[in-house]
Amino acid sequence: MNIAISNRISQIPFSSIRGIFEEAGRMEKNGARITHMEIGRPDFDTPVHIKSAASLALDKGYVHYTSNSGIPELREAIAGKLKRENGIIVDPHHEVVVSIGCKEAILDTIIAFINPGDEVLIPDPSWLEYQYMVELAGGVPVPVPLHEKKDFILDPNDVRDRITDRTKMIILNSPHNPTGTVLDGQVLRELAEISITNHLLVLSDEIYEKIIYDNEKHISIASLPGMFERTITINGFSKSYSMDGWRLGYEAGPSALIQPIMKVHQYNTTSATSFAQYGAVEAYNGTQEPVADMVKEFNHRRQLLVNRLLEIPNVSCVIPKGAFYVFPSFKHLGISSKELAMYLLKEAQIACVPGSAFGKNGEGYLRLAYSTDTKQINQAMDRLTELLKKIPKQG
Ligand SMILES: Cc1ncc(COP(=O)(O)O)c(C=O)c1O
Repeated sequence: MNIAISNRISQIPFSSIRGIFEEAGRMEKNGARITHMEIGRPDFDTPVHIKSAASLALDKGYVHYTSNSGIPELREAIAGKLKRENGIIVDPHHEVVVSIGCKEAILDTIIAFINPGDEVLIPDPSWLEYQYMVELAGGVPVPVPLHEKKDFILDPNDVRDRITDRTKMIILNSPHNPTGTVLDGQVLRELAEISITNHLLVLSDEIYEKIIYDNEKHISIASLPGMFERTITINGFSKSYSMDGWRLGYEAGPSALIQPIMKVHQYNTTSATSFAQYGAVEAYNGTQEPVADMVKEFNHRRQLLVNRLLEIPNVSCVIPKGAFYVFPSFKHLGISSKELAMYLLKEAQIACVPGSAFGKNGEGYLRLAYSTDTKQINQAMDRLTELLKKIPKQG
């Protein structure tokens, strides 16, 4: 039987890094010990007070659908957090929707606002899901290049240059995956001015907000003058609270923007997992000490990994200010990042993500996640350093 798949789906590829994961799996089955630096999640357990709250909810029989927008306790905790930490004032009844991870919140937002032909500005490199989600909705992703020589900071002039009468939305992600850059107040104010002048919607993905170093300060663009009404702030629990498997996130913003997203969410998932939501209430209302401990450990690993990379001849590396990734350049080798990632896997047992998986501008880079302990980082860097000595420099 020959059943045609929809045009929408046939145009979208499987992830370009599937080959690397499959090969890593095969090698592990055959006894290889792989250092996993490809995984985009913390390697810590969820803090115990959060797990206890979810477990108690199960014991109490909170096992049914919740309100479509999430349990009121969680929406209130989110509204409280946004006011306290981000300077964003939302009504928990109409301006917050709890979703199945940030991922669902992002897709729902794009489906709610993007018509076929609408252009969406997306930094390149970026988490590639943005691009494919826009394409799923029939929209046109417009890459805005990030440059290593500008420390991968989004340049408002590059944004301005790409605006047309079809531009509908800009997607921002700070701290940024894969480069770890953090947008400062000056850049955000310029981006705000561009958004207001050109009537753009802003999707601000703030999932790495709490994983930030060197006294950098996370600023939510929705808190800037004139921005609340045009910004959908998306955040979640996966990274800051090591709750990626819980699948919980949310979108917040003015009711005029949140209610159309709510419609998509309603048809898509009904509601997020009931007992998990009770755990998330504790994440926001309980002690923040485990977050601080995790960030301290990440910071230690970040410094180690950056130092080790910078010791390797010809490798350059912008010092990341947030998230848990380093994005070093191996352009001097003259081979594609996919070839290099496969070579590192096979010859040095290091699994990482080729930069090209994040867009055209990511070619020549690798994303190394430091969600693995310092001993493993050191051993992996020893093997990488030795291996690179064997690759002849091209050109
Ligand atoms: C930039 C970015 N946004 C969103 C997500 C997805 O988050 P969640 O687990 O909340 O769906 C990720 C996960 O890697 C990410 O890197």
